[in-house]
Amino acid sequence: MSVLRVVNVVGARPNFMKIAPIVEAMQARQDMESILVHTGQHYDHVMSDLFFNQLGLPKPDIYLGVGSGSHGEQTGKIMIEFEQVLKDVKPDLVLVVGDVNSTIACGLVAVKMSIQLAHVEAGLRSFDRTMPEEINRVLTDQISDYLFITERSAFENLRNEGIAEDKIHFVGNVMIDTLLRHRKRAADSPVLNHLGLEPRKFILVTLHRPANVDDPEILEKLLQVLGTLSRDMPVVFPVHPRTRKQVQQFGFENMLRRFPNVRLIEPLGYLDFLKCMDSARFVLTDSGGIQEETTVLGVPCITARENTERPVTVTQGTNVVVGRNPERILQEARKILEGNWKTGQIPELWDGKAAERIVQILAAADA
Ligand code: UD1
Repeated sequence: MSVLRVVNVVGARPNFMKIAPIVEAMQARQDMESILVHTGQHYDHVMSDLFFNQLGLPKPDIYLGVGSGSHGEQTGKIMIEFEQVLKDVKPDLVLVVGDVNSTIACGLVAVKMSIQLAHVEAGLRSFDRTMPEEINRVLTDQISDYLFITERSAFENLRNEGIAEDKIHFVGNVMIDTLLRHRKRAADSPVLNHLGLEPRKFILVTLHRPANVDDPEILEKLLQVLGTLSRDMPVVFPVHPRTRKQVQQFGFENMLRRFPNVRLIEPLGYLDFLKCMDSARFVLTDSGGIQEETTVLGVPCITARENTERPVTVTQGTNVVVGRNPERILQEARKILEGNWKTGQIPELWDGKAAERIVQILAAADA
């Protein structure tokens, strides 16, 4: 029996929950070997190790420790280190997930060494090329041999970009595999007690996109929106390190002191965050993944971005995309607080079995 040797890549926080079920499904098979490489794009305990522990991910076999930097520097460093890894490990296939800099950096190295490439969460498009993630998505898809998609819109996007249909596989959503697997455990998290919160009586916020937090005028307006929302109920805001830095640099801490009901806390681990999402009255976010997770949880989500690459969360789920206009955000929030919100439904194939499907397709192709 031949064994398919796969290097699975993670780099940043949203990658960990996507790779966990894939590694688990590969490890359960005799005909696959999984080697886990962590680029170290995210390195803080709360941004990385905590997730490995809670998701039951094996310790990375190889840790590159590249850390932060400008896009060119970070991507370049990952490529140099990862090339050496592939020379040593000689895998049959490299599997990358999502849209972070580690995704394109490792994908590019793999194809240049004539190693097959699989991209999980392919085909999503915001059509906004100013987003670093959009560039990462478009380029990774162009060079991939296997494109695993989470929603049907991705199929059209890929076909429009000239990708051969036989490379595209609609498998569902691995991040939702992880959510469904951990939802019960998350229900036992004591985080609400620790924060003094009651279910459905708080608003959960995350903001970290460069477009929202790197411009002082935009960030100030968004923080003021949080102040207004906090008159209705506590606003809990686990702050990404990038956002924390910007708040300090722009001197917004004083302004935030005027809003005692806006609670800036450290980033949470996976289970605590899942518990908070599942219990919030609604979520205000600029994240990609949270739009999908709230859809599955049936929790209203307001997305403070001009676009979404995950349209099924709007057409079928609980999400609305409103941009960063404070009036629009407050208007949608008002609707939710008045009980006037769509219920949504679970998108096709978001059933907890996406990783299983991916692994089966890879194994069948190798047989
Ligand atoms: C990255 C991803 C983004 C994803 C986000 C989730 C890219 C282009 N962006 O953005 O798609 O939504 O992760 O978190 O890959 N920092 C720390 N500790 C850490 C990691 C980062 O302090 O563990 C700080 C550093 O100062 C760094 C900044 O956060 O400069 C940004 O980190 P970086 O990995 O460059 O991008 P993110 O904004 O985290």
